Amino acid sequence: MRALVYDDYCDLQGMRLADIPDPAPGPDEVLVEVHAAGINPIDWKVRAGHMRARFELEFPDVAGRDLSGVVVAVGSNVTDLKEGDTVFGTCPPNRWGSHAELIAVEASVVGIKPPEISHIEAASISLVGLTALTALEKTATIQNGMRVLVHAGAGGVGAFAIQYCKSRGATVFATASAGNADFVRRLGADEAIDYRNVDFTEVASDIDVVYDTMGGETHLRSYNVLKPGGLMVCLNAEPIPDEKPRDDIRVETPLVQYDRAGVERIAQLIQTRAVQPSVGTVFFFSDAMDAYRLSETNHARGKIVLRIK
Ligand SMILES: NC(=O)c1ccc[n+]([C@@H]2O[C@H](COP(=O)([O-])OP(=O)(O)OC[C@H]3O[C@@H](n4cnc5c(N)ncnc54)[C@H](OP(=O)(O)O)[C@@H]3O)[C@@H](O)[C@H]2O)c1
Repeated sequence: MRALVYDDYCDLQGMRLADIPDPAPGPDEVLVEVHAAGINPIDWKVRAGHMRARFELEFPDVAGRDLSGVVVAVGSNVTDLKEGDTVFGTCPPNRWGSHAELIAVEASVVGIKPPEISHIEAASISLVGLTALTALEKTATIQNGMRVLVHAGAGGVGAFAIQYCKSRGATVFATASAGNADFVRRLGADEAIDYRNVDFTEVASDIDVVYDTMGGETHLRSYNVLKPGGLMVCLNAEPIPDEKPRDDIRVETPLVQYDRAGVERIAQLIQTRAVQPSVGTVFFFSDAMDAYRLSETNHARGKIVLRIK
């Protein structure tokens, strides 16, 4: 099969499309013919070795986590999926990936693709959806009437987060550059804040929940907008400073869970039209390096997806 591989921790130039042996599914896995595969920043952060403290890779490694495709074989213990099922999902960070024509992936992390959406759309939504739901549904329990600030609203996680918070009845503030203001408003943001030219702390106030997808200096300034008793829920993006300038708010960095229940919850949100996929740019597999180059700018709008079949 054709796959996007690398032989050691490396930058973009170290990746290549290669023909490698087809994987075989283990007892708890399904073999999926990948039709489309999303790109997430974790893909190139793992490749660059930024996450070695959490897990070591074995080489050669195949890039990618998000996928949508068709089951072509099942492992001996798998009883709840069968050949021909159309599935989507995301595989955990420490294993061979989805930027390949075939992937052997644990059956427990994929679910049936909603028929309403294409493979391209389905491949765009699992990792960002699981991430946002861990933060906003399980940790923050966003509710009607809350005031929420979503940082990086034009990115993959932010686009899902804005839609989810809006569907719960929250008032949503989102940071984005000026060129993405209309995009985040269309997603449901009540207020788009041009973070390059406007101090978001002067626009957003009395906030119940900050979704901090940035870390660093953005994290520190976000303390100023939270109301007493508020919550800052963070991703592992840029490092989160140790200092906590306020004691009257909570700060949480929940670990994302990869499981079928999460994927099925995403499918349900799609089918009730609470959240829709937000595909920005689609690349042919042969142009995968260009897709990574765009992701590595940190300024892609919506999701980047590889069309593999
Ligand atoms: N498990 C985890 O902890 C976890 C899971 C998923 C993601 N993450 C991390 O979370 C971050 C976001 O992920 P993602 O998938 O949403 O990335 P993404 O899709 O690549 O995000 C790109 C977006 O970030 C925006 N942006 C860049 N700098 C900004 C700033 N200073 N203020 C506001 N917006 C800014 C850009 O908007 P403009 O072009 O308008 O600036 C662009 O739309 C990444 O660092 C990722 O590694 C962590």
